[in-house]
Amino acid sequence: MVQVSKNIYWHGYKHWSLRSFHGNELSTHRASTYNSYSVQDKKTVIVDTVWDPFKEEYVEGIGREIGFANVDMVVINHIEPDHGGSLGLLMERLPAGTPIYCTGNCERAIRRYFYNPDWRIVPVKTGDSVNIGEYDLVFVEMRMLHWPDSMMTYVRGAGTVFSNDAFGQHYCTSGYFNDTVDECEIYQEALKYFANILAPFAPLVTKKVAEIEAMGLDIDVIAPSHGVIWRKDAMQIIRKYAEWANEYTDGFVVVTYDCFYRATMQMAEAVARGLEGKGVPYKLYHCAATDMSDLITDMFCASGVVVGSSTINNTVHRTTAALLDEIKGHKLRGKVGAAFGSYGWSGEAPKIVQDSLRDAGFEIVGEPLRALFAPSEADLDICAALGRQVADAVLAPRT
Ligand code: FEO
Repeated sequence: MVQVSKNIYWHGYKHWSLRSFHGNELSTHRASTYNSYSVQDKKTVIVDTVWDPFKEEYVEGIGREIGFANVDMVVINHIEPDHGGSLGLLMERLPAGTPIYCTGNCERAIRRYFYNPDWRIVPVKTGDSVNIGEYDLVFVEMRMLHWPDSMMTYVRGAGTVFSNDAFGQHYCTSGYFNDTVDECEIYQEALKYFANILAPFAPLVTKKVAEIEAMGLDIDVIAPSHGVIWRKDAMQIIRKYAEWANEYTDGFVVVTYDCFYRATMQMAEAVARGLEGKGVPYKLYHCAATDMSDLITDMFCASGVVVGSSTINNTVHRTTAALLDEIKGHKLRGKVGAAFGSYGWSGEAPKIVQDSLRDAGFEIVGEPLRALFAPSEADLDICAALGRQVADAVLAPRT
């Protein structure tokens, strides 16, 4: 067993081959883990399980490492199948009547996933606690971070918090702790996780971080349900979340485009020249050839996003439509936006892009730029001027 802290152990599954998560919604270049834990005090507690494709191996491990008869209670911080998927098989093996502690919303979801009226489920609220011997388990609801049922469980006496999805990463390595893996990699994955999963709920993250700080919990170890465990300066990831949740921007601009041939690409490159002329760093992407999850991560960090699409069937390219949907869905905040694109006859795309960015809450710069068929030198100069305008807006002090 991998020891996390005194009397606390890891029992998860390392899913090395995982390359996409939530179906195909999120790329996972560095795979992921499903972390389950045990607290072995006077009472023995299992915290969360693993995704059900791996339930046989996981439950067999619990039997071998702990012994089913020794388990006194189960805590389910979040019933999404990547964490709750093995609960059915686990409960079949545990002594009848073993209680499951979870939020009220989680209880309702467990009843719908498993349809077992005999299970003894104990709903808990923020501040509720259970003594298990030397330690107390203290529950903190994390509603909509990122599901209505989410919570975290703090082990008072061990300074360890099981934070479930919060502070996690889709990151599978031979190491288990943040001081045993590459710091650059862990932060890339923690940021990608935040941008793609938690960004829509950023204001709730801000409130929750303040609430956790106000509770004055003595936190030495943060054990999330994905990726590695924060053990060295564990509070660093809470501080980082507070930063990311507060309209975080990194000073660069994402220029992204889709096109048939090269006309809109040339416009994108001209916008980039305008940014470069003002000394503003940028990242230039062909949207259709770029991993959407990585693009969302970069857009989350960007101070400005400039989107180009040529016009097809009176609208934008399908990848641009998906991109605009992602921008709206992820509620990216505090960013400058602008639009451009080439066209052959009707030319609606740039205005559709600009309207969508405005609706998403972006501060719009300039007019939606259009170039007929292939951009002229004059068109490209106008694109470069748009780049300079975006640069000025990005460099202007934020109010
Ligand atoms: Fe990792 Fe919300 O499940």
